[in-house]
Amino acid sequence: MKLLSVKDLQVSFASRHGVVHAVRDISLDIEPGEKVGLVGESGCGKSTLGRALMRIAPITRGNVVLDGTDITSLNAYQLRPIRPKMQMVFQDPYSSINPRHTVGKTIGQPLEMAGWNSGQIKKRVFELLEQVGLPSSAALRYPHEFSGGQRQRIGIARALILKPKLLICDEPVSALDVSVRAQIINLLDDLKQELGVAYLFISHDLSVVHHFADRVLVMYLGRLVESGTTETLWRNSAHPYTRALLSATPVPDPRRRHEARREILTGELPNPLTPPAGCAFGSRCKYVQERCRREPPALRSLQHGHHVACHFDLFNQNNAA
Ligand SMILES: Nc1ncnc2c1ncn2[C@@H]1O[C@H](COP(=O)(O)OP(=O)(O)OP(=O)(O)O)[C@@H](O)[C@H]1O
Ligand code: SF4
Ligand SMILES: [Mg+2]
Repeated sequence: MKLLSVKDLQVSFASRHGVVHAVRDISLDIEPGEKVGLVGESGCGKSTLGRALMRIAPITRGNVVLDGTDITSLNAYQLRPIRPKMQMVFQDPYSSINPRHTVGKTIGQPLEMAGWNSGQIKKRVFELLEQVGLPSSAALRYPHEFSGGQRQRIGIARALILKPKLLICDEPVSALDVSVRAQIINLLDDLKQELGVAYLFISHDLSVVHHFADRVLVMYLGRLVESGTTETLWRNSAHPYTRALLSATPVPDPRRRHEARREILTGELPNPLTPPAGCAFGSRCKYVQERCRREPPALRSLQHGHHVACHFDLFNQNNAA
């Protein structure tokens, strides 16, 4: 059974300037223990998608099924037994940490609310601190006494305390120094091995996603434009937007540089209040044709779980070469 199954999800925000469809007709699945990356430029709807899955952004249309339960329309009371299965890790752990509470209280709070006794909570908090690489003495200290990387470890421990099956990580390392980034990514990786937890890993840093994710989803103006295994996307991406994103990312191994045909991203991201007709990428695509302006491309299957939303096989020959 799929751990998460999302069908035709739409999230729209109305303002006095008009309606923004931040998430448009997105369908996706996540398998138990899978590490799925979600990438795209700022404002394309990554956080909104993550928040909608958590049911903290309003779902306008579509369905979210978590571990066999359709959670789309559950109220707060009905969501309570489901919440432990899916937790979120934020870019700024302070957003989920009360600075006046000790780290032990912060991490253990979900268990307190679930009615555990203090001895049980203490044992589990120590277990978690060890798992995220912090000493048990950290439980008695306050969040401001820790570095950014350590605070992110505290945020991860808190997210893990209820043994979730899925962690939605929204830019979890973007605010950290490069050296600390690698440590946190390795920690998330180890936790996957130990706990079998699955990830939706949101980041605009493609080299981090390349390192971490098994599979990658690429978003543009609220839609998925490509998805596939990390290997497939880096070697054989089929959407000009994905190619442009990858071209802008340093390739660690110079021998692999030829694999991403260089595509330069030109023009501005369109105003989400007035997206282009037809293919949303049309205003920046050098391959745009008449059909693209008329008809939005559906996400279609290429092979081996590789999907693309483009009318044409633009890079076929290049791939075969
Ligand atoms: N609560 C809200 N009310 C109105 N519009 C919103 C709201 N939240 C997000 N949006 C709009 O939805 C779109 C997607 O925003 P979102 O924060 O999901 O993008 P993002 O991909 O996470 O960007 P970033 O990489 O900068 O974090 C943007 O146009 C944003 O202005
Ligand atoms: S459908 Fe047309 S505009 Fe959109 S990516 Fe493909 S070629 Fe470019
Ligand atoms: Mg965001």
